[in-house]
Amino acid sequence: MTEILFKAINTPNLTSIDVYEQTLDGYQSLKKAFEKKPEEMVELVKASGLRGRGGAGFPTGLKWSFLAKDVFPRYLACNADESEPGTCKDRELIMKNPHLLIEGMILCSYACQIETGYLYMRGEFWEYEELMDKAIDDAYAKGYLGKNIMGTGFNLDLYTHMGAGAYICGEESALLTSLEGYRGEPRLKPPFPAVEGLYGKPTIVNNVETLCAIPFITRNGPEAYSAIGTEKSKGTKLVSVSGHVNKPGNYEIPLGTPTIDLIEKYAGGIRNGNKLKAFIPGGSSVPMLPASKADTPYDYESLMEAGTMLGSGALIVIDDTANVVTEALGLAHFYMHESCGKCTPCREGTRWMYQILTDINNKQGKPEQVELLSDICDNMSFKCFCPLGDAAVAPVISSIKYFPEDYEELIGSMKTAQPVGTP
Ligand SMILES: Cc1cc2nc3c(=O)[nH]c(=O)nc-3n(C[C@H](O)[C@H](O)[C@H](O)COP(=O)(O)O)c2cc1C
Ligand code: SF4
Repeated sequence: MTEILFKAINTPNLTSIDVYEQTLDGYQSLKKAFEKKPEEMVELVKASGLRGRGGAGFPTGLKWSFLAKDVFPRYLACNADESEPGTCKDRELIMKNPHLLIEGMILCSYACQIETGYLYMRGEFWEYEELMDKAIDDAYAKGYLGKNIMGTGFNLDLYTHMGAGAYICGEESALLTSLEGYRGEPRLKPPFPAVEGLYGKPTIVNNVETLCAIPFITRNGPEAYSAIGTEKSKGTKLVSVSGHVNKPGNYEIPLGTPTIDLIEKYAGGIRNGNKLKAFIPGGSSVPMLPASKADTPYDYESLMEAGTMLGSGALIVIDDTANVVTEALGLAHFYMHESCGKCTPCREGTRWMYQILTDINNKQGKPEQVELLSDICDNMSFKCFCPLGDAAVAPVISSIKYFPEDYEELIGSMKTAQPVGTP
């Protein structure tokens, strides 16, 4: 078993700074980092091959190198909004090993010459705010935060900030808008946050899991990290497995592990001895795939080749007792509720999708409604202001593509089973 992020995660009292220091050599990577120049730290992270774990899989070191040159102050915003359905890995890191995240935030800040960092947590994480605040206080008390950290002249202040439970505030530009105190709505990109982010200043937005990988890379060197995984998908990944499995939970795997192993070996197989019907590999925002594709290696490239995405790393498993229309309806409700309303295709489209799927699921659908549903998806795909619109389309359009018989079962013969606009 390869454990980087979850190493010793269940050690009693790991949230205490003393236990963290004793068990995991906590904060020792700072010494190694401070021996290097900030730009050498950026190169180190580039060489590791680490890619952002928040959803887009963008190379982390490259993102850090995009910071606008010589513009200060710069900010760090750690994205702990974790609202993607099926995703609960960041929460486990925060609640069990808060100092790993703080260490990662310090290393990122040093590499990027940042003196102020925020941890933006979804509103529902209220019970971890106190825990994180205490962990931050303890790091100040030990001299890992504050002025002149470990005598290096490097200063860093960290703050927690609670969101109000809106999914859109996980999108990086909406997160920054919310952090500034405005209503959380996405901004037009470019400019990207690394150039013009929080308060108009260069800002790094990174996911919790991404930052938690930095201490290992700093301590063990980039080669130790890039030796794990596949040629282009390096390192380990936390995968939240949910749905119709016997042992739902968060599992750390080397990237490239077959998806079927995640279901069978890690998550204990399908419940009640049923058969696998479909799976959504990357949270609710990516296309679902049929069981026949379950041997796809769980990595960025292989999942893309199979017609879907790794996304946030949440594998939602659907067994053969389910009708995918019901699954698609549940997700359509989520996106309708979470659409921020800023642009028309998403605001209107998510509602129409929900209404049509409700009709079909209630056996009150008409054959031509599937064609209408496909048409709405086509009118949303790549036409919305931010990726939430595409995300809403992905599970619905793929359910029509792979499981037309589930729609037929509920409404009789369909006018069309060929969806258009598959993202
Ligand atoms: C609708 C939407 C929701 C998102 N939610 C999250 C989230 O909860 N957590 C997260 O880290 N990234 C989320 N992202 C991705 C962020 O915009 C951003 O790419 C990410 O935080 C960058 O960090 P990374 O490079 O470490 O992956 C979301 C994106 C979209 C479009
Ligand atoms: S796509 Fe949806 S969430 Fe994104 S800006 Fe438009 S309405 Fe808001």
